[in-house]
Amino acid sequence: MFTPKPIGFVRSHYTRTEEIPKGLGAKHEAEGVLDILPEFGDGLTDIEGFSHLFVIWEFDRSEGFKLLGTPPSDDRPHGVFATRSPRRPNPIGLTVVELLSRGGLLLHVRGVDMLDGTPILDIKPYLSGVPQEALKRGWLAEAEARKGK
Ligand SMILES: C[S@@+](CC[C@H](N)C(=O)[O-])C[C@H]1O[C@@H](n2cnc3c(N)ncnc32)[C@H](O)[C@@H]1O
Repeated sequence: MFTPKPIGFVRSHYTRTEEIPKGLGAKHEAEGVLDILPEFGDGLTDIEGFSHLFVIWEFDRSEGFKLLGTPPSDDRPHGVFATRSPRRPNPIGLTVVELLSRGGLLLHVRGVDMLDGTPILDIKPYLSGVPQEALKRGWLAEAEARKGK
């Protein structure tokens, strides 16, 4: 296995996990910056043409993992791999953000749900390929239906 190394850090207004919207209907519209380290700058070449990006990052402030847990969006437990819990065997987060602009090594984005200073492991262009009608939302759809969302 490789040893992960940050390619940059998230700059966000969130300093505490409680500040980040959670649960059913939570919207992630906060703006932030992906601050890329100079040694990886060339890797941003041509990124401006993409409207959305996958950001792969480390839950650097979560401890341990829980295989079964009750997420804020439901009152029933689910397996960690059926949720987006921060407490995972490998503490890796994945967020889709909208790329608003680029200024050199700084990517200004909308949709951050990460704490300020979160290490970024990778960035990839988001290319959605799953048609809406083929997408199943599992327990989340059931939780939404129960709550009338
Ligand atoms: C439910 S997770 C989802 C994250 C990502 N969108 C995903 O699906 O992997 C989002 C929560 O992770 C927590 N979080 C954000 N940044 C973190 C960090 N650097 N370390 C630990 N927890 C963090 C916050 O509580 C936030 O509400």
